[in-house]
Amino acid sequence: MTDSLASDERIVPMRLQRFLARAGVASRRGSENLMTAGRVTVNGKVASELGTKVDPLVDVVAVDGVVVRLSEGFAYLMLNKPAGYLTTMSDPHGRPCVASLVPTKAYPGLFPVGRLDADTTGLLLFTTNGELAHRMLHPSTHVWKHYVALVKGTPSKRELSALSQGVELEDGPTAPARVSLLDDADPVCRPVAPGRVPRGHAVVGISIHEGRKHQVKRMMEAVGHEVVRLHRDVFGPLALGDVAQGSGRELSAEERAALEALH
Ligand code: URA
Repeated sequence: MTDSLASDERIVPMRLQRFLARAGVASRRGSENLMTAGRVTVNGKVASELGTKVDPLVDVVAVDGVVVRLSEGFAYLMLNKPAGYLTTMSDPHGRPCVASLVPTKAYPGLFPVGRLDADTTGLLLFTTNGELAHRMLHPSTHVWKHYVALVKGTPSKRELSALSQGVELEDGPTAPARVSLLDDADPVCRPVAPGRVPRGHAVVGISIHEGRKHQVKRMMEAVGHEVVRLHRDVFGPLALGDVAQGSGRELSAEERAALEALH
């Protein structure tokens, strides 16, 4: 995995015998016995020292060759995707992929829920829960996503109103959206305009519940404003908050419950 998940929100390293006990392998004492018997490996190396610590997000622990994970059930992580990464778990041409930014070894089967363009930054959800991903991406679920777009020119009231009512794209009209012009001083603008908003540009906040290819860019283009930078800060019940670019964190129990409740 990546050091990029080495944020404060990562589960702190814990003693290996505690990890094994919490994973339900054996009691703390029983786990120590497994370790001293040389039956436990961390990242492929025998770990018989009782002081050994592991990071559940990074290290791969196995007992008698069988990988042990801390929590049964599904993994859920959010990543603040940097620009320049493809939303795919591998690329035949060797281009940078989001897979290199998340702990795929600790969570085999992790995949991104939906897509962001290579040049789009922001909130990308990862899970091992295929059913939940399917539900979140299904058009009938209406998962609202909020984007912040730095655009050329300043959209007029009429253009903003057209966007919010729906614009005609080549694959059909868009559903109603929530659109507003953001104030330069609003901190939500920072990911797309870290200093000042460049002259002749504006920042638009736009929430949509559809997920068509390049949808926000095409919507803005339909009213004559090219998107220069695009960032997603909200995905359904999840908000990116202060997760740094290139970093990620596991979802809290409340966030997981909010996802499970979507239908
Ligand atoms: N809309 C876009 O145009 N691009 C994205 O990456 C996401 C939404």
